[in-house]
Amino acid sequence: MAANKSVTKTFGVLTAGGDCPGLNAAIRGVCRAASDRYEMKIIGIANGFRGLIDEDTRVLEPADFSGILTRGGTILGSSRVKPFGAPDKDEDVTDKVSAIKETYSRLGLDCLVVLGGNGTNTTGYKLSREGLNIIGLPKTIDNDIFGTDKTFGFDSALDIGTEAIDRLHSTAQSHSRVIVIELMGHKAGWLSLYAGVAGGGDVILIPEIPYDVKVIADHLEKRFRYGKTFSVVVVAEGAMSVKEAAMEKKDRKKYRQENGPSAAYRVAREIHDVTGMETRATVLGYVQRGGTPSASDRILATSFGTAAAELLAEGQYNRMVSLHGNDIGAVDLSVPEGKVKTVPHDHYLINTAKDVGTCLGA
Ligand code: F6P
Repeated sequence: MAANKSVTKTFGVLTAGGDCPGLNAAIRGVCRAASDRYEMKIIGIANGFRGLIDEDTRVLEPADFSGILTRGGTILGSSRVKPFGAPDKDEDVTDKVSAIKETYSRLGLDCLVVLGGNGTNTTGYKLSREGLNIIGLPKTIDNDIFGTDKTFGFDSALDIGTEAIDRLHSTAQSHSRVIVIELMGHKAGWLSLYAGVAGGGDVILIPEIPYDVKVIADHLEKRFRYGKTFSVVVVAEGAMSVKEAAMEKKDRKKYRQENGPSAAYRVAREIHDVTGMETRATVLGYVQRGGTPSASDRILATSFGTAAAELLAEGQYNRMVSLHGNDIGAVDLSVPEGKVKTVPHDHYLINTAKDVGTCLGA
């Protein structure tokens, strides 16, 4: 059967920034549709933008993207190399953007597909302004990309976070302790809010709502009076107290460096200091980014991937694939540029959490 007509003949694909479950499912989605339906040539680029700077690339054949739907990580590797930032100590290329443009044209690419978070899609937008054709796919466990209702990776991390909160309940109860669990999310509270509600956290602290430790202490003491001798406190890594929120950025950084390794430790200590309760801190860390994607992330990543192949075929460049309600669409690549989608104060889940008696620290 003859291949369908396609504007794009050859494209490159890379994964950049922090990895997440679903990257391979998305790679498979875009590559399968692009090669089976349109017979496009696909160049896999290793380790994010680093592979374009160093020309570390290879042609991807169907066998390369077969059997990867359920695999965690990324078959292409990832890095946080920033093409528009100053060169790192170990980089011998002085002009990374020129190096990228040269590789792009040497490889004969019609378009570059970038799978990444805010930084990656912003870089994609800047490269599009340098004359490259770019298509972005929104991935991150943080769910903080403007222009899409959801990113892939979020749902899997949510499952992992929820399971951790579930597990902490029993040990917190056995020892009559307050256990503070820290989830990732960068500057946004999506993961902590969702996992906190799903896991029935007694307190949920997110960066969007600066907390007052006295409000938390009152809540925990009230629980104690009602016979609940344990509590689970879910803290986003970017959570901050009212005091921290009022500080200049550099003062906040200094304060944090002097007050424990991360948010969970600060909050656990503050709760102990005010209530005298026995507290423990648990940081879930990279577990949230590892392993096989959830069913929902496999579906979202596959759909984003095949939608990207359609954009390639139609020559609709400089767009980011996105989810709006139940529809997969695309927005201009300028939409996510330089922004962070945080939890709005009127988000329904904030009210839901309050309605079931969860303390949000304010
Ligand atoms: O953006 C995903 C994320 O896991 C954030 O939640 C976290 O703040 C950051 O990446 C960690 O980055 P790194 O992998 O560079 O340690």
